[in-house]
Amino acid sequence: MDSNNLIVFNVSKRFFGVQALDKVSFDLKKGEIMGLVGENGAGKSSIIKILAGAYKKDEGEIYLDGDNFSPRDPYDSLAKGIAVIHQERQLIPDLPISMNLFLDRLPEKKFLGLIPVICGATLMKKSIELLESLGIDLNPKTPVSRLNAAEKQIIDIAKAVSSEAKIVIMDEPTASLEPKEVQMLFTFIRKLKNSGTSVVFVSHRIEEVIEISDRIIVLRDGRVITVVGKEETNAEEIIKYIVGHEVKSLFPKETAQIGQEALCVNNLRFKKVNDAISFNVKAGEILALTGLLGSGAGHTLECLSGKIQFHDGEVTMNGEKIEIKIPADVIEKGIGYVPDDRKNEGIIAEMSVEHNILLPNLSKVTRFGFISRGKVQALVEPLIKALNIKTPSPQTPVKNLSGGNQQKVVIAKWLASDVTILLLNQPTHGVDVGAKAEVHKLLGGLVKAGGSVIFASSDLPEVVSASDRVIVFYKANIAADLDACECDQEKVLKCSFGL
Ligand SMILES: Nc1ncnc2c1ncn2[C@@H]1O[C@H](COP(=O)(O)OP(=O)(O)OP(=O)(O)O)[C@@H](O)[C@H]1O
Ligand SMILES: [Mg+2]
Repeated sequence: MDSNNLIVFNVSKRFFGVQALDKVSFDLKKGEIMGLVGENGAGKSSIIKILAGAYKKDEGEIYLDGDNFSPRDPYDSLAKGIAVIHQERQLIPDLPISMNLFLDRLPEKKFLGLIPVICGATLMKKSIELLESLGIDLNPKTPVSRLNAAEKQIIDIAKAVSSEAKIVIMDEPTASLEPKEVQMLFTFIRKLKNSGTSVVFVSHRIEEVIEISDRIIVLRDGRVITVVGKEETNAEEIIKYIVGHEVKSLFPKETAQIGQEALCVNNLRFKKVNDAISFNVKAGEILALTGLLGSGAGHTLECLSGKIQFHDGEVTMNGEKIEIKIPADVIEKGIGYVPDDRKNEGIIAEMSVEHNILLPNLSKVTRFGFISRGKVQALVEPLIKALNIKTPSPQTPVKNLSGGNQQKVVIAKWLASDVTILLLNQPTHGVDVGAKAEVHKLLGGLVKAGGSVIFASSDLPEVVSASDRVIVFYKANIAADLDACECDQEKVLKCSFGL
Protein backbone atom coordinates (compact mmCIF):
# COMPACT_ATOMS: atom_id res chain seq x y z
CA MET A 1 0.00 0.00 0.00
CA ASP A 2 1.49 3.31 -0.94
CA SER A 3 -0.19 6.16 -2.74
CA ASN A 4 -3.71 7.35 -2.19
CA ASN A 5 -5.76 6.52 -5.16
CA LEU A 6 -8.93 8.10 -3.88
CA ILE A 7 -9.43 11.21 -1.78
CA VAL A 8 -12.90 12.32 -0.74
CA PHE A 9 -12.91 15.76 0.81
CA ASN A 10 -15.84 17.51 2.51
CA VAL A 11 -18.48 15.93 0.31
CA SER A 12 -22.08 16.84 1.15
CA LYS A 13 -25.38 15.76 -0.34
CA ARG A 14 -28.91 16.84 0.51
CA PHE A 15 -32.14 15.27 -0.61
CA PHE A 16 -35.41 17.00 -0.09
CA GLY A 17 -35.61 17.29 3.68
CA VAL A 18 -32.64 14.99 4.39
CA GLN A 19 -28.94 15.74 4.85
CA ALA A 20 -27.69 12.40 3.52
CA LEU A 21 -24.00 13.37 3.65
CA ASP A 22 -22.45 16.12 5.71
CA LYS A 23 -18.83 17.03 4.87
CA VAL A 24 -17.62 13.48 4.42
CA SER A 25 -13.84 13.09 4.08
CA PHE A 26 -11.66 9.99 3.79
CA ASP A 27 -8.92 8.53 1.65
CA LEU A 28 -8.35 5.14 0.13
CA LYS A 29 -4.92 3.74 -0.64
CA LYS A 30 -3.93 1.58 -3.54
CA GLY A 31 -4.63 -2.05 -2.67
CA GLU A 32 -6.47 -1.13 0.51
CA ILE A 33 -9.70 -2.73 1.67
CA MET A 34 -11.88 -0.18 3.41
CA GLY A 35 -14.89 -1.30 5.42
CA LEU A 36 -17.78 1.17 5.39
CA VAL A 37 -20.37 0.77 8.14
CA GLY A 38 -23.23 2.69 9.68
CA GLU A 39 -26.91 2.49 10.57
CA ASN A 40 -29.62 2.22 7.96
CA GLY A 41 -29.83 5.65 6.37
CA ALA A 42 -26.36 6.70 7.59
CA GLY A 43 -25.32 7.62 4.05
CA LYS A 44 -23.29 4.62 2.86
CA SER A 45 -25.12 4.11 -0.41
CA SER A 46 -25.26 7.85 -1.03
CA ILE A 47 -21.48 8.27 -0.98
CA ILE A 48 -21.13 5.18 -3.16
CA LYS A 49 -23.64 6.50 -5.67
CA ILE A 50 -21.71 9.75 -5.88
CA LEU A 51 -18.51 7.84 -6.59
CA ALA A 52 -20.41 5.77 -9.13
CA GLY A 53 -21.66 8.83 -10.96
CA ALA A 54 -25.27 8.01 -10.16
CA TYR A 55 -25.78 11.03 -7.86
CA LYS A 56 -24.16 14.47 -8.09
CA LYS A 57 -22.52 15.84 -4.94
CA ASP A 58 -23.74 19.22 -3.70
CA GLU A 59 -20.30 20.28 -2.49
CA GLY A 60 -16.82 18.96 -1.79
CA GLU A 61 -14.06 17.48 -3.88
CA ILE A 62 -13.02 14.03 -5.01
CA TYR A 63 -9.63 13.08 -6.47
CA LEU A 64 -8.82 9.84 -8.23
CA ASP A 65 -5.10 9.23 -8.74
CA GLY A 66 -4.49 12.94 -8.19
CA ASP A 67 -7.02 14.11 -10.77
CA ASN A 68 -10.24 15.87 -10.02
CA PHE A 69 -12.95 13.24 -10.26
CA SER A 70 -16.49 14.18 -11.02
CA PRO A 71 -18.11 11.52 -13.18
CA ARG A 72 -20.88 12.56 -15.55
CA ASP A 73 -22.70 9.26 -15.19
CA PRO A 74 -22.05 5.63 -14.20
CA TYR A 75 -20.44 4.82 -17.56
CA ASP A 76 -17.98 7.64 -17.08
CA SER A 77 -17.16 6.45 -13.57
CA LEU A 78 -16.61 2.88 -14.79
CA ALA A 79 -14.45 4.10 -17.65
CA LYS A 80 -12.28 5.99 -15.14
CA GLY A 81 -11.85 2.85 -13.05
CA ILE A 82 -14.56 2.71 -10.40
CA ALA A 83 -16.81 -0.36 -10.55
CA VAL A 84 -19.77 -0.56 -8.22
CA ILE A 85 -21.94 -3.42 -7.12
CA HIS A 86 -25.10 -1.75 -5.95
CA GLN A 87 -27.26 -2.80 -3.05
CA GLU A 88 -30.20 -3.39 -5.36
CA ARG A 89 -29.21 -5.88 -8.02
CA GLN A 90 -28.77 -4.65 -11.54
CA LEU A 91 -29.28 -7.84 -13.53
CA ILE A 92 -31.73 -8.49 -16.34
CA PRO A 93 -33.66 -11.61 -15.35
CA ASP A 94 -34.60 -12.86 -18.81
CA LEU A 95 -31.08 -12.74 -20.20
CA PRO A 96 -28.57 -15.55 -19.63
CA ILE A 97 -25.68 -15.16 -17.19
CA SER A 98 -23.21 -14.60 -20.06
CA MET A 99 -25.03 -11.57 -21.46
CA ASN A 100 -25.52 -10.10 -18.02
CA LEU A 101 -21.81 -10.41 -17.35
CA PHE A 102 -20.80 -8.45 -20.44
CA LEU A 103 -23.90 -6.38 -21.01
CA ASP A 104 -22.16 -3.06 -21.49
CA ARG A 105 -19.42 -4.48 -23.72
CA LEU A 106 -20.85 -7.41 -25.65
CA PRO A 107 -18.34 -8.89 -28.11
CA GLU A 108 -19.41 -8.20 -31.68
CA LYS A 109 -18.70 -9.69 -35.07
CA LYS A 110 -19.81 -8.61 -38.53
CA PHE A 111 -22.57 -10.63 -40.12
CA LEU A 112 -21.89 -10.95 -43.86
CA GLY A 113 -18.90 -8.76 -43.13
CA LEU A 114 -21.28 -5.85 -42.62
CA ILE A 115 -23.92 -5.97 -39.92
CA PRO A 116 -22.63 -6.02 -36.33
CA VAL A 117 -24.10 -8.88 -34.31
CA ILE A 118 -23.22 -10.37 -30.93
CA CYS A 119 -20.50 -12.96 -31.22
CA GLY A 120 -21.98 -15.84 -29.24
CA ALA A 121 -18.84 -17.95 -29.28
CA THR A 122 -16.60 -15.18 -27.90
CA LEU A 123 -19.22 -14.32 -25.30
CA MET A 124 -19.38 -17.94 -24.15
CA LYS A 125 -15.60 -18.24 -24.06
CA LYS A 126 -15.15 -15.02 -22.06
CA SER A 127 -17.95 -15.97 -19.68
CA ILE A 128 -16.53 -19.43 -19.01
CA GLU A 129 -13.07 -17.93 -18.42
CA LEU A 130 -14.40 -15.34 -16.01
CA LEU A 131 -16.59 -17.75 -14.05
CA GLU A 132 -13.78 -20.28 -13.81
CA SER A 133 -11.26 -17.72 -12.64
CA LEU A 134 -13.63 -16.83 -9.83
CA GLY A 135 -14.42 -20.44 -8.97
CA ILE A 136 -18.09 -20.00 -9.84
CA ASP A 137 -19.76 -23.22 -10.88
CA LEU A 138 -22.67 -21.98 -13.01
CA ASN A 139 -23.61 -22.48 -16.63
CA PRO A 140 -23.31 -19.17 -18.54
CA LYS A 141 -26.39 -20.09 -20.56
CA THR A 142 -28.69 -20.15 -17.53
CA PRO A 143 -31.14 -17.26 -17.45
CA VAL A 144 -30.60 -15.08 -14.39
CA SER A 145 -34.26 -15.50 -13.41
CA ARG A 146 -33.48 -19.13 -12.51
CA LEU A 147 -30.79 -18.21 -10.00
CA ASN A 148 -31.43 -17.77 -6.32
CA ALA A 149 -30.56 -14.62 -4.43
CA ALA A 150 -26.98 -15.60 -3.57
CA GLU A 151 -26.18 -16.78 -7.08
CA LYS A 152 -27.50 -13.50 -8.49
CA GLN A 153 -25.29 -11.67 -6.05
CA ILE A 154 -22.25 -13.61 -7.17
CA ILE A 155 -22.99 -12.85 -10.83
CA ASP A 156 -23.34 -9.18 -10.01
CA ILE A 157 -19.94 -9.25 -8.34
CA ALA A 158 -18.36 -11.15 -11.23
CA LYS A 159 -19.77 -8.56 -13.61
CA ALA A 160 -18.20 -5.68 -11.73
CA VAL A 161 -14.78 -7.21 -11.27
CA SER A 162 -14.56 -8.31 -14.90
CA SER A 163 -14.15 -4.66 -15.85
CA GLU A 164 -10.64 -4.51 -14.33
CA ALA A 165 -11.38 -1.51 -12.21
CA LYS A 166 -8.92 0.39 -9.99
CA ILE A 167 -11.51 0.56 -7.25
CA VAL A 168 -14.30 -1.95 -6.68
CA ILE A 169 -17.08 -0.82 -4.39
CA MET A 170 -19.43 -3.42 -2.95
CA ASP A 171 -22.62 -2.28 -1.27
CA GLU A 172 -23.64 -5.12 1.04
CA PRO A 173 -22.34 -7.92 -1.15
CA THR A 174 -22.70 -10.60 1.51
CA ALA A 175 -26.24 -9.82 2.66
CA SER A 176 -27.68 -12.87 0.93
CA LEU A 177 -24.63 -15.11 1.07
CA GLU A 178 -23.99 -18.12 3.29
CA PRO A 179 -20.75 -18.47 5.27
CA LYS A 180 -19.13 -20.65 2.61
CA GLU A 181 -19.81 -18.16 -0.17
CA VAL A 182 -18.70 -15.29 2.00
CA GLN A 183 -15.33 -16.99 2.33
CA MET A 184 -15.23 -17.54 -1.41
CA LEU A 185 -15.90 -13.85 -1.93
CA PHE A 186 -13.22 -12.90 0.61
CA THR A 187 -10.63 -15.03 -1.13
CA PHE A 188 -11.54 -13.20 -4.25
CA ILE A 189 -11.38 -9.76 -2.61
CA ARG A 190 -7.89 -10.59 -1.30
CA LYS A 191 -6.86 -11.50 -4.84
CA LEU A 192 -8.06 -8.09 -6.00
CA LYS A 193 -6.10 -6.43 -3.20
CA ASN A 194 -2.92 -8.28 -4.10
CA SER A 195 -3.22 -7.14 -7.68
CA GLY A 196 -3.37 -3.53 -6.46
CA THR A 197 -7.12 -2.97 -6.71
CA SER A 198 -8.71 -1.08 -3.84
CA VAL A 199 -11.99 -2.27 -2.40
CA VAL A 200 -14.72 -0.50 -0.45
CA PHE A 201 -16.77 -3.07 1.41
CA VAL A 202 -20.15 -2.17 2.93
CA SER A 203 -21.85 -4.55 5.32
CA HIS A 204 -23.96 -4.73 8.43
CA ARG A 205 -22.16 -7.89 9.51
CA ILE A 206 -19.51 -6.33 11.69
CA GLU A 207 -17.45 -9.48 12.18
CA GLU A 208 -17.09 -9.80 8.42
CA VAL A 209 -16.05 -6.18 8.05
CA ILE A 210 -13.36 -6.59 10.67
CA GLU A 211 -12.16 -9.80 9.05
CA ILE A 212 -11.74 -8.43 5.55
CA SER A 213 -10.91 -4.73 5.98
CA ASP A 214 -7.61 -2.97 6.53
CA ARG A 215 -9.38 0.11 7.88
CA ILE A 216 -12.99 0.78 8.81
CA ILE A 217 -14.89 4.00 8.40
CA VAL A 218 -18.06 4.60 10.41
CA LEU A 219 -20.81 6.94 9.24
CA ARG A 220 -23.67 8.22 11.35
CA ASP A 221 -26.30 10.70 10.15
CA GLY A 222 -24.20 11.48 7.11
CA ARG A 223 -21.04 12.29 9.08
CA VAL A 224 -17.79 10.41 9.47
CA ILE A 225 -17.62 9.33 13.12
CA THR A 226 -14.25 7.62 12.94
CA VAL A 227 -11.78 5.85 10.66
CA VAL A 228 -9.92 3.06 12.47
CA GLY A 229 -7.35 0.45 11.58
CA LYS A 230 -8.73 -3.03 12.12
CA GLU A 231 -5.90 -3.95 14.48
CA GLU A 232 -6.86 -1.11 16.80
CA THR A 233 -10.51 -1.99 17.25
CA ASN A 234 -13.06 -4.73 17.88
CA ALA A 235 -16.70 -5.50 17.11
CA GLU A 236 -18.02 -4.06 20.33
CA GLU A 237 -16.31 -0.74 19.75
CA ILE A 238 -17.44 -0.53 16.13
CA ILE A 239 -21.05 -1.19 17.15
CA LYS A 240 -20.77 1.58 19.71
CA TYR A 241 -19.52 3.98 17.04
CA ILE A 242 -22.34 2.92 14.71
CA VAL A 243 -25.28 3.41 17.06
CA GLY A 244 -23.75 6.10 19.23
CA HIS A 245 -24.18 4.23 22.50
CA GLU A 246 -23.44 0.86 24.01
CA VAL A 247 -25.64 -2.02 22.87
CA LYS A 248 -26.28 -4.42 25.72
CA SER A 249 -27.74 -7.30 23.81
CA LEU A 250 -27.89 -7.73 20.07
CA PHE A 251 -30.65 -10.27 20.36
CA PRO A 252 -32.82 -9.47 23.34
CA LYS A 253 -34.56 -12.79 23.84
CA GLU A 254 -37.31 -12.94 26.38
CA THR A 255 -38.86 -16.26 27.19
CA ALA A 256 -42.48 -16.71 26.29
CA GLN A 257 -44.84 -19.40 27.53
CA ILE A 258 -44.60 -22.25 25.05
CA GLY A 259 -48.07 -23.63 24.36
CA GLN A 260 -49.78 -26.04 22.03
CA GLU A 261 -48.73 -26.94 18.54
CA ALA A 262 -49.74 -24.09 16.22
CA LEU A 263 -48.52 -25.21 12.83
CA CYS A 264 -47.54 -28.68 11.80
CA VAL A 265 -45.82 -29.67 8.59
CA ASN A 266 -46.14 -33.33 7.64
CA ASN A 267 -44.09 -35.09 4.99
CA LEU A 268 -43.55 -32.04 2.88
CA ARG A 269 -41.82 -32.71 -0.44
CA PHE A 270 -40.84 -30.00 -2.85
CA LYS A 271 -37.98 -31.56 -4.74
CA LYS A 272 -37.85 -34.89 -6.47
CA VAL A 273 -35.20 -36.29 -4.21
CA ASN A 274 -35.83 -34.89 -0.78
CA ASP A 275 -37.01 -36.92 2.14
CA ALA A 276 -40.30 -35.84 3.50
CA ILE A 277 -39.86 -32.85 5.78
CA SER A 278 -41.82 -32.80 9.01
CA PHE A 279 -41.69 -30.35 11.88
CA ASN A 280 -43.94 -28.16 13.93
CA VAL A 281 -43.97 -24.85 15.71
CA LYS A 282 -45.82 -24.17 18.93
CA ALA A 283 -47.62 -21.14 20.22
CA GLY A 284 -45.10 -18.85 21.89
CA GLU A 285 -42.20 -20.36 19.99
CA ILE A 286 -39.61 -18.84 17.65
CA LEU A 287 -38.24 -21.39 15.23
CA ALA A 288 -35.20 -20.72 13.06
CA LEU A 289 -34.58 -22.58 9.80
CA THR A 290 -31.06 -22.49 8.46
CA GLY A 291 -28.62 -24.24 6.17
CA LEU A 292 -26.33 -23.57 3.26
CA LEU A 293 -27.50 -22.04 0.04
CA GLY A 294 -30.06 -24.29 -1.64
CA SER A 295 -30.37 -26.46 1.46
CA GLY A 296 -34.12 -26.06 1.53
CA ALA A 297 -34.61 -23.76 4.54
CA GLY A 298 -35.88 -20.80 2.52
CA HIS A 299 -37.64 -23.12 0.11
CA THR A 300 -39.64 -24.67 2.93
CA LEU A 301 -40.81 -21.24 4.05
CA GLU A 302 -41.77 -20.34 0.50
CA CYS A 303 -43.90 -23.50 0.33
CA LEU A 304 -45.66 -22.57 3.55
CA SER A 305 -46.29 -19.04 2.29
CA GLY A 306 -47.97 -20.27 -0.89
CA LYS A 307 -45.30 -18.66 -3.01
CA ILE A 308 -44.18 -21.93 -4.49
CA GLN A 309 -46.03 -25.22 -4.83
CA PHE A 310 -45.02 -28.37 -3.03
CA HIS A 311 -46.05 -31.66 -4.54
CA ASP A 312 -46.65 -33.74 -1.48
CA GLY A 313 -47.39 -33.32 2.19
CA GLU A 314 -49.86 -31.71 4.49
CA VAL A 315 -49.92 -28.63 6.67
CA THR A 316 -52.19 -28.31 9.66
CA MET A 317 -52.92 -25.23 11.71
CA ASN A 318 -54.25 -25.77 15.21
CA GLY A 319 -54.93 -29.36 14.23
CA GLU A 320 -56.90 -28.56 11.09
CA LYS A 321 -55.62 -29.21 7.61
CA ILE A 322 -55.09 -26.06 5.54
CA GLU A 323 -54.96 -25.81 1.76
CA ILE A 324 -51.95 -23.83 0.55
CA LYS A 325 -52.07 -23.08 -3.15
CA ILE A 326 -51.50 -19.35 -3.39
CA PRO A 327 -50.32 -16.66 -0.92
CA ALA A 328 -53.91 -15.48 -0.32
CA ASP A 329 -54.72 -18.89 1.21
CA VAL A 330 -52.31 -18.40 4.08
CA ILE A 331 -52.98 -14.70 4.60
CA GLU A 332 -56.62 -15.59 5.11
CA LYS A 333 -55.62 -18.01 7.88
CA GLY A 334 -53.67 -15.34 9.73
CA ILE A 335 -50.23 -16.29 8.49
CA GLY A 336 -47.96 -13.44 7.37
CA TYR A 337 -44.95 -13.79 5.11
CA VAL A 338 -41.94 -11.49 4.82
CA PRO A 339 -40.16 -12.46 1.57
CA ASP A 340 -36.41 -12.28 1.03
CA ASP A 341 -36.72 -10.34 -2.21
CA ARG A 342 -38.22 -7.13 -0.88
CA LYS A 343 -37.78 -5.18 -4.08
CA ASN A 344 -40.01 -7.44 -6.14
CA GLU A 345 -42.31 -8.96 -3.58
CA GLY A 346 -42.25 -7.08 -0.32
CA ILE A 347 -42.99 -3.48 -1.13
CA ILE A 348 -44.60 -1.25 -3.70
CA ALA A 349 -41.76 1.20 -4.21
CA GLU A 350 -43.80 4.07 -5.61
CA MET A 351 -46.23 3.97 -2.71
CA SER A 352 -45.63 5.75 0.57
CA VAL A 353 -44.26 4.17 3.72
CA GLU A 354 -47.67 4.56 5.32
CA HIS A 355 -49.61 2.93 2.49
CA ASN A 356 -47.21 0.01 2.32
CA ILE A 357 -47.69 -0.63 6.02
CA LEU A 358 -51.46 -0.29 5.65
CA LEU A 359 -51.76 -2.83 2.84
CA PRO A 360 -52.50 -5.90 4.94
CA ASN A 361 -54.13 -3.79 7.65
CA LEU A 362 -56.84 -1.84 5.85
CA SER A 363 -59.67 -3.39 7.84
CA LYS A 364 -58.13 -1.99 11.01
CA VAL A 365 -58.19 1.62 9.91
CA THR A 366 -61.48 1.79 8.06
CA ARG A 367 -64.73 2.81 9.61
CA PHE A 368 -67.96 2.46 7.65
CA GLY A 369 -65.80 2.05 4.57
CA PHE A 370 -63.82 5.23 5.18
CA ILE A 371 -60.20 5.39 6.19
CA SER A 372 -59.79 7.05 9.57
CA ARG A 373 -56.79 9.37 9.64
CA GLY A 374 -56.48 9.01 13.40
CA LYS A 375 -56.41 5.23 13.23
CA VAL A 376 -53.83 5.33 10.47
CA GLN A 377 -51.55 7.49 12.57
CA ALA A 378 -52.07 5.38 15.66
CA LEU A 379 -51.06 2.30 13.71
CA VAL A 380 -48.19 3.61 11.62
CA GLU A 381 -46.36 6.09 13.80
CA PRO A 382 -45.47 3.81 16.73
CA LEU A 383 -44.04 1.30 14.26
CA ILE A 384 -41.91 3.90 12.49
CA LYS A 385 -40.63 4.91 15.88
CA ALA A 386 -40.03 1.42 17.28
CA LEU A 387 -38.16 0.21 14.21
CA ASN A 388 -36.43 3.56 13.81
CA ILE A 389 -37.50 3.78 10.17
CA LYS A 390 -35.62 6.78 8.80
CA THR A 391 -38.06 8.65 6.61
CA PRO A 392 -38.80 12.37 6.26
CA SER A 393 -42.48 11.55 6.73
CA PRO A 394 -44.91 8.59 6.59
CA GLN A 395 -46.02 9.92 3.20
CA THR A 396 -42.55 9.59 1.61
CA PRO A 397 -42.41 7.00 -1.22
CA VAL A 398 -40.63 3.87 -0.06
CA LYS A 399 -38.22 4.06 -3.00
CA ASN A 400 -36.62 7.15 -1.42
CA LEU A 401 -35.64 5.22 1.72
CA SER A 402 -32.29 3.55 2.23
CA GLY A 403 -32.21 -0.22 1.59
CA GLY A 404 -32.39 -1.28 5.22
CA ASN A 405 -35.22 1.11 5.95
CA GLN A 406 -37.20 -0.40 3.09
CA GLN A 407 -36.75 -3.80 4.68
CA LYS A 408 -38.03 -2.41 7.97
CA VAL A 409 -41.21 -1.28 6.19
CA VAL A 410 -41.85 -4.85 5.00
CA ILE A 411 -41.46 -6.16 8.52
CA ALA A 412 -43.56 -3.36 9.99
CA LYS A 413 -46.53 -4.10 7.82
CA TRP A 414 -46.80 -7.65 9.08
CA LEU A 415 -46.03 -6.78 12.67
CA ALA A 416 -48.96 -4.39 12.57
CA SER A 417 -51.37 -7.00 11.33
CA ASP A 418 -53.04 -9.55 13.54
CA VAL A 419 -51.19 -12.55 12.25
CA THR A 420 -50.82 -15.44 14.66
CA ILE A 421 -48.05 -17.02 12.67
CA LEU A 422 -45.34 -14.97 11.04
CA LEU A 423 -42.96 -16.46 8.47
CA LEU A 424 -39.88 -14.43 7.66
CA ASN A 425 -37.33 -15.22 4.98
CA GLN A 426 -33.97 -13.56 5.80
CA PRO A 427 -35.79 -10.95 7.90
CA THR A 428 -32.86 -8.76 8.86
CA HIS A 429 -31.11 -8.88 5.51
CA GLY A 430 -29.60 -5.41 5.22
CA VAL A 431 -30.93 -4.23 8.59
CA ASP A 432 -28.46 -2.50 10.91
CA VAL A 433 -27.44 -3.83 14.33
CA GLY A 434 -29.70 -1.55 16.34
CA ALA A 435 -32.79 -2.24 14.24
CA LYS A 436 -32.01 -5.95 14.20
CA ALA A 437 -32.34 -5.98 17.96
CA GLU A 438 -35.60 -4.04 17.62
CA VAL A 439 -37.04 -6.47 15.06
CA HIS A 440 -36.32 -9.39 17.37
CA LYS A 441 -37.81 -7.56 20.31
CA LEU A 442 -41.02 -7.10 18.32
CA LEU A 443 -41.00 -10.76 17.28
CA GLY A 444 -40.62 -11.53 20.97
CA GLY A 445 -43.74 -9.46 21.59
CA LEU A 446 -45.64 -11.47 19.00
CA VAL A 447 -44.82 -14.81 20.61
CA LYS A 448 -45.47 -13.47 24.09
CA ALA A 449 -48.98 -12.73 22.91
CA GLY A 450 -49.30 -16.39 21.92
CA GLY A 451 -48.21 -16.16 18.29
CA SER A 452 -45.53 -18.22 16.55
CA VAL A 453 -42.60 -17.20 14.41
CA ILE A 454 -40.66 -19.20 11.85
CA PHE A 455 -37.72 -17.42 10.27
CA ALA A 456 -35.15 -18.59 7.75
CA SER A 457 -31.76 -17.00 8.10
CA SER A 458 -28.16 -17.54 7.14
CA ASP A 459 -26.94 -15.14 9.82
CA LEU A 460 -25.60 -17.61 12.37
CA PRO A 461 -25.52 -15.31 15.42
CA GLU A 462 -29.15 -14.46 14.70
CA VAL A 463 -30.10 -18.10 14.22
CA VAL A 464 -28.68 -19.29 17.53
CA SER A 465 -29.45 -16.26 19.67
CA ALA A 466 -32.88 -15.15 18.52
CA SER A 467 -34.72 -18.47 18.46
CA ASP A 468 -36.03 -21.17 20.77
CA ARG A 469 -35.33 -23.97 18.35
CA VAL A 470 -33.13 -24.35 15.27
CA ILE A 471 -33.78 -26.69 12.36
CA VAL A 472 -30.73 -27.17 10.15
CA PHE A 473 -31.25 -28.22 6.55
CA TYR A 474 -28.80 -30.14 4.43
CA LYS A 475 -29.52 -31.01 0.80
CA ALA A 476 -33.26 -30.44 1.11
CA ASN A 477 -33.56 -32.62 4.21
CA ILE A 478 -33.63 -31.87 7.91
CA ALA A 479 -30.16 -32.55 9.26
CA ALA A 480 -30.79 -31.51 12.86
CA ASP A 481 -33.52 -30.19 15.10
CA LEU A 482 -31.80 -28.44 18.00
CA ASP A 483 -32.86 -26.72 21.15
CA ALA A 484 -31.44 -23.20 20.99
CA CYS A 485 -29.97 -23.56 24.50
CA GLU A 486 -27.89 -26.50 23.43
CA CYS A 487 -26.50 -25.13 20.20
CA ASP A 488 -23.81 -22.70 19.21
CA GLN A 489 -22.74 -21.34 15.85
CA GLU A 490 -20.13 -24.02 15.32
CA LYS A 491 -22.58 -26.85 15.89
CA VAL A 492 -25.09 -25.33 13.49
CA LEU A 493 -22.42 -24.81 10.86
CA LYS A 494 -21.26 -28.42 11.17
CA CYS A 495 -24.79 -29.74 10.76
CA SER A 496 -25.29 -27.52 7.74
CA PHE A 497 -22.33 -29.21 6.09
CA GLY A 498 -23.96 -32.56 6.78
CA LEU A 499 -21.44 -33.47 9.49
N1 LIG B 1 -33.09 9.23 -3.98
C1 LIG B 1 -33.34 9.67 -2.75
N2 LIG B 1 -34.32 10.56 -2.49
C2 LIG B 1 -34.55 10.99 -1.24
N3 LIG B 1 -33.84 10.62 -0.16
C3 LIG B 1 -32.85 9.74 -0.35
C4 LIG B 1 -32.54 9.22 -1.64
N4 LIG B 1 -31.48 8.37 -1.52
C5 LIG B 1 -31.16 8.36 -0.20
N5 LIG B 1 -31.97 9.18 0.50
C6 LIG B 1 -31.91 9.44 1.94
O1 LIG B 1 -30.56 9.67 2.30
C7 LIG B 1 -30.26 9.06 3.56
C8 LIG B 1 -29.05 8.16 3.41
O2 LIG B 1 -29.42 7.02 2.65
P1 LIG B 1 -28.42 5.90 2.17
O3 LIG B 1 -29.15 5.07 1.18
O4 LIG B 1 -27.13 6.51 1.77
O5 LIG B 1 -28.22 5.07 3.53
P2 LIG B 1 -27.38 3.74 3.81
O6 LIG B 1 -26.34 4.09 4.81
O7 LIG B 1 -26.95 3.14 2.54
O8 LIG B 1 -28.46 2.83 4.55
P3 LIG B 1 -28.78 1.23 4.43
O9 LIG B 1 -27.91 0.55 5.42
O10 LIG B 1 -30.21 1.12 4.87
O11 LIG B 1 -28.59 0.82 3.03
C9 LIG B 1 -31.51 8.33 4.00
O12 LIG B 1 -32.17 9.12 4.95
C10 LIG B 1 -32.33 8.20 2.73
O13 LIG B 1 -33.70 8.19 3.01
MG1 LIG C 1 -27.47 1.39 1.54
